[in-house]
Amino acid sequence: MDRIRIVGGRPLQGALPISGAKNATLPLMIASLLTDRMLVLDNVPRLADVAQLQRILGNHGVDVTVSGKRSGEREYQGQTLSLSAARIVDTTAPYDLVSKMRASFWVVGPLVARMGEARVSMPGGCAIGTRPVDLLIMALQRLGAAIDIEGGYVVARAPRGLTGGDIVFPKVTVGGTHTAMMAASLARGTTVIDNAAREPEVADVAACLNKMGAHISGAGTARIVIEGVAKLDGARHSVLPDRIETGTYAMAVAMTGGDVLLEGARPELLETALDLIAEAGAGVAVTNEGIRITRNGARLAPVDVTTAPFPGFPTDLQAQLMALMCGARGTSRITETIFENRFMHVQELARLGARIHLDGETATVEGVERLTGAPVMATDLRASVSLVIAALAAEGETLVNRVYHLDRGFERLEHKLAGCGAAIERLSG
Ligand code: EPU
Repeated sequence: MDRIRIVGGRPLQGALPISGAKNATLPLMIASLLTDRMLVLDNVPRLADVAQLQRILGNHGVDVTVSGKRSGEREYQGQTLSLSAARIVDTTAPYDLVSKMRASFWVVGPLVARMGEARVSMPGGCAIGTRPVDLLIMALQRLGAAIDIEGGYVVARAPRGLTGGDIVFPKVTVGGTHTAMMAASLARGTTVIDNAAREPEVADVAACLNKMGAHISGAGTARIVIEGVAKLDGARHSVLPDRIETGTYAMAVAMTGGDVLLEGARPELLETALDLIAEAGAGVAVTNEGIRITRNGARLAPVDVTTAPFPGFPTDLQAQLMALMCGARGTSRITETIFENRFMHVQELARLGARIHLDGETATVEGVERLTGAPVMATDLRASVSLVIAALAAEGETLVNRVYHLDRGFERLEHKLAGCGAAIERLSG
């Protein structure tokens, strides 16, 4: 297994390109199941999760072609995927595929909407919490699907097609909103989704579905209205920039000090996080090319923050913020409200010398003057990258194990950071 070696203490300087968003790419790829025509996606990041979803969609009969880099393009520019689900050959998503990536459960919506049936393995728990799918099932039932649980599989049936309905989510769910929106696009009649997730990735998927001929309004707000259509067409869509990657590197610069332009980043996708970074004392400036983060000299001020659905502070940046606050001048409080077990990074940050006390869903982080390198490992994507951020500022060498977590969601992480002067390298084997 690969490891990443980091020698900390160097400020980051220069420009760092932001990739297309993983969490928009995955549902956009799944949307290809809704049509027998070609869906072309540009600015797709090169990630293990994207490759894994290609395999899963391939199993259903989707042809996926990846265009190579064109001459004149820089290496980091996203790839173009062409997805064609002209014929769906299998409506079952088996356990061994779904268990590797939770978001692949979302194929249930498009498959039942287009084919009248889907058999999708329950995804099970994962390192950040139990993560049930009851709300996704409820949404499909509201659209007229009959749902059975058979041998660990969710079996959704709607032999005469789905019908529009009113869906009220008791809790904001990104996956529930994606699934409901995709399924309702091919349902007969009108669907209203209340307490919908307002995440920018939901709006990006809706924009793509509308290019495919769907009639969706209100995506990006808490009420989404969908007028179902009989058939969807092909389309071409460019994936929006990754706000979590943006926030992660912004925090890395705030941690090490320096001056970095996050190229292609869009500030409106992460205002709450940028405000927090500025409140802590780093410089945040919006330019025509992206967002410039600077910090010189003084240690950061501590913050109090609670994760919340968009536009609140994202759970996907909680671990990174915690790493940043490990070096702050004073005590921060970070409360996690979205996932009950998303604190696996705490004990690993402690190995670098962090002082963190956990009490239920709140972590109290007492800033220390200096972190020191150590071997660490993490059990999920965002936790892993929080260790990278801490290591960039720690004295001496850190070895991050289980790099495959990082490869799931960060495109060319070590190249991007090395390009800004970090002493970081991948050790194979
Ligand atoms: N929930 C339920 N029942 C359901 C669905 C969700 O109780 O049927 C709960 C979850 O357990 C959680 C809350 O609702 O407590 C929110 O979960 P949500 O459904 O919004 O999460 P998700 O759609 O499974 C996506 C992202 C996550 C991100 C969350 C929250 C993708 C592929 N995944 O997950 O991203 O943390 O929204 O914003 O978009 C990551 O990228 O590292 C990641 C985990």
